[in-house]
Amino acid sequence: MLPNKGHDMLKTDYVFQATEEARELQRLQMLERIFDAGTQRRMLATGLTTGWHCLEVGAGAGSIVRWLEQRVGPSGKVVALDTNPRFLRGSSTSTIDILQGDICDTDLPLAMFDLVHARYVMIHIADYQKAFERMLRCVKPGGWVVIEEPDFEAARAVTAADDARASFARVSAAIERMFTSLGMDHALGAKLPAIFQRQDLSHLRVEHEGHLSPGGGAIAQLMKLSAEQLREKYVATGLVTEADIEQYCRLADDPDSWAIYYATVAVTGWWQPQCGGSTQG
Ligand SMILES: C[S@@+](CC[C@H](N)C(=O)[O-])C[C@H]1O[C@@H](n2cnc3c(N)ncnc32)[C@H](O)[C@@H]1O
Repeated sequence: MLPNKGHDMLKTDYVFQATEEARELQRLQMLERIFDAGTQRRMLATGLTTGWHCLEVGAGAGSIVRWLEQRVGPSGKVVALDTNPRFLRGSSTSTIDILQGDICDTDLPLAMFDLVHARYVMIHIADYQKAFERMLRCVKPGGWVVIEEPDFEAARAVTAADDARASFARVSAAIERMFTSLGMDHALGAKLPAIFQRQDLSHLRVEHEGHLSPGGGAIAQLMKLSAEQLREKYVATGLVTEADIEQYCRLADDPDSWAIYYATVAVTGWWQPQCGGSTQG
C-alpha cells in the first residue's frame, strides 16, 4: 500500500466508519454482488480495454479494482483510493496501487486516467462538488467518468400494513436526517446529471434504477444490514424508535411486503476540457 503523505488520519464522517469490520465487509460484499454487473457493463460501454489507466475512488472491498486489473492487463494501471483501505490489504500487484486518502485532499496524478469511477462514495462527502472536481482533474482529455450514487428520497413502502409503512417512512426520514446533519445530501444521486452538465462533460448517459424489492430480496437485506449497523445513528436523529427499526427489519424479511428502498442514479460522461477550463490545471 502506498503511503499518502500528510493524510494518515482516517476520515471520521463516513457513517459506516465505526462499524464492526466483519459486518461491514459482509455489507460491502453484498453490495458488490448486487451492483457489480451493472457497473461492469457501464465501464465496458466506455471502451475500457487493455493498457487503460483507471482510478477507483472509495474502493471498498475491492471487487471492481480486481475486475479492472483483468480488463487493463499488465500494460495498464489501476489506482484504488480509500480513506480506509482496510479491505484492500494484500490487493497490491504490479498493476494495482492502493492509496489511503480522502479524494478531497489527496494529491493524485493530473490528467492521467482513461477512466475514473466512484460508486456510493460522493453521498458520504459533504463537499461532493469538490470531490467531483478533484476526480475530474485526474481524467485524461478524452477520458471517461462513471459515477453511481443513491437517491434516498425515492424510498417508500408500497405493499405493507399501515403500521409497517409508517415505520418505514420514519426510518427513511431518519436516513435523510442522518445525512443532512452531517452536511451530506441524501438525494445526491438525482442531482448527478446536473453536476456532470455544469462541468461540461458530454456524451452523458443517465441511468435511473428504482430498487423495488420484496422482503427477503437482496436490496431489502442490504438495507436491513445498514439499519442494524446504523441503528444508533438513526435513533439519535430523534425521528425513529428502536421499535420502528425492528418493524423496518421485519418488513425487509417479509416476502409479501414490497418497498422501494432507494434509487441508484448512474451517470457516464466524456471529459474533453476546453482550453482554460476551470477544473483542469
Ligand atoms: C459505501 S462504500 C462503497 C464501496 C465501493 N465503492 C462499492 O460500491 O462497492 C464507500 C467507500 O468509500 C470510502 N470513502 C468514504 N469517503 C471517502 C473519501 N472522502 N475519499 C475516499 N474514499 C472515501 C469508504 O471508506 C468506503 O470504502
